[in-house]
Amino acid sequence: MNITIFGTGGVGQTLAAKLASLGHAVMIGTRDPQATHQRPEFAAWQAAHPAVSLGTFAQAGAHGALAINALAGHASLAGLAQAEADLAGKIVIDLSNPLDFSNGMPPSLFVGLTDSLGEQIQRLLPTAKVVKTLNTVNSDVMVNPAQVANGDHVLYIGGNDPEAKATVMGYLREWFGWQHLLDLGGIETSRATEAAVLLWVQVWGKLGTAHFNFKIVQ
Ligand SMILES: NC(=O)c1ccc[n+]([C@@H]2O[C@H](COP(=O)([O-])OP(=O)(O)OC[C@H]3O[C@@H](n4cnc5c(N)ncnc54)[C@H](OP(=O)(O)O)[C@@H]3O)[C@@H](O)[C@H]2O)c1
Repeated sequence: MNITIFGTGGVGQTLAAKLASLGHAVMIGTRDPQATHQRPEFAAWQAAHPAVSLGTFAQAGAHGALAINALAGHASLAGLAQAEADLAGKIVIDLSNPLDFSNGMPPSLFVGLTDSLGEQIQRLLPTAKVVKTLNTVNSDVMVNPAQVANGDHVLYIGGNDPEAKATVMGYLREWFGWQHLLDLGGIETSRATEAAVLLWVQVWGKLGTAHFNFKIVQ
């Protein structure tokens, strides 16, 4: 499948590497492809992953049958707006978090409680099917949940389109091996899952590793 990933950071790279290894044609979207190519860290990564292409946000938006938003939270709306027309009708997996580091650690949220970044993205892209997921785990765990407790932990799903959520849940199982997917409801459930990242940060500080997750027990 042609897949778009918006974002050249660690998350974008981890997802692109995994999806390319599964045989998907991945294009990563960035502000300025030439400048990104010249970043030593990205150049080294791309040399190791030559099948992954790089384009502007608009080029990347046109490439994929499916898109994943892995942009910095504060940059997500501006970045996705540049691909708005090409995302019409498509599934957009949103894993961004509206983290505000302006006062250092721990972060706060720049949107939350009565709104969320997931909802803002759905409003920006009204005909796209935005599915919020993966934002509550570290990128290594996103693509390899089995490395934590053999995969016995939870991943939340939120979105307004039931078919799109079912499709994404199928991909999460097939691509990465997720076993425990919890569909919380509409895209407004992003208010809770984005805020849950504040707890994730505190636990990370205590454990000293990002390779953990939460499990639901009854
Ligand atoms: N780190 C994790 O394990 C993890 C886990 C769950 C969720 N998340 C979420 O995943 C997202 C990506 O995280 P990350 O650590 O990989 O990368 P990041 O450093 O948060 O974001 C990098 C991306 O944001 C773009 N960006 C930054 N400032 C911008 C601006 N002013 N205008 C347009 N684009 C801008 C960069 O564009 P260029 O390519 O042009 O530089 C780059 O593509 C974040 O929302 C984060 O909260 C991260």
